[in-house]
Amino acid sequence: MAKLLILYDSQTGNTEKMAQAVVEGAQSVPGVEVELKYYASSDELAKAAAVVFGTPTYHHEITLPIKQILEEAAKAGVKLEGKIGAAFGSYGWSGEAPDKVLEILKNRFGMKTIEPPIKVLYDPKQPQLDECRKLGARIAQEIVEK
Ligand SMILES: Cc1cc2nc3c(=O)[nH]c(=O)nc-3n(C[C@H](O)[C@H](O)[C@H](O)COP(=O)(O)O)c2cc1C
Repeated sequence: MAKLLILYDSQTGNTEKMAQAVVEGAQSVPGVEVELKYYASSDELAKAAAVVFGTPTYHHEITLPIKQILEEAAKAGVKLEGKIGAAFGSYGWSGEAPDKVLEILKNRFGMKTIEPPIKVLYDPKQPQLDECRKLGARIAQEIVEK
């Protein structure tokens, strides 16, 4: 079964709510294995058909746990070319972390990225959570049809 991996970090729970909505959307599509985690090894990344990263913006940056996953994958030479990649995250004023993740997924790993990323100012409300659900469902649909 095609696997959709959702990896996220969240200090105060805002990005976590978004991650859970992405999972709900993905689970609405039959035939996809959906996994939500804080961390995935390079082997796990290699086995996924699509990877979605959730990162809040702290100090204008992707948070360290997410950076670590990306750096390990780059070092291990994980092949992610052509796989679907997406990003989302909560922010307070600048919100560049999900954009940076997408840039890495596209330019470093050659992933097929879904743009723009979903960015939410602080606490996500229903319409924004719906957007996250739609993203999860869209990606699940794409990998199930492959
Ligand atoms: C120490 C600190 C630094 C932050 N730096 C940024 C920043 O550079 N840009 C930004 O947009 N938001 C920044 N924020 C706001 C967070 O991104 C925001 O609170 C977000 O909702 C946190 O998401 P989380 O609940 O998933 O951790 C910062 C917050 C804190 C506490």
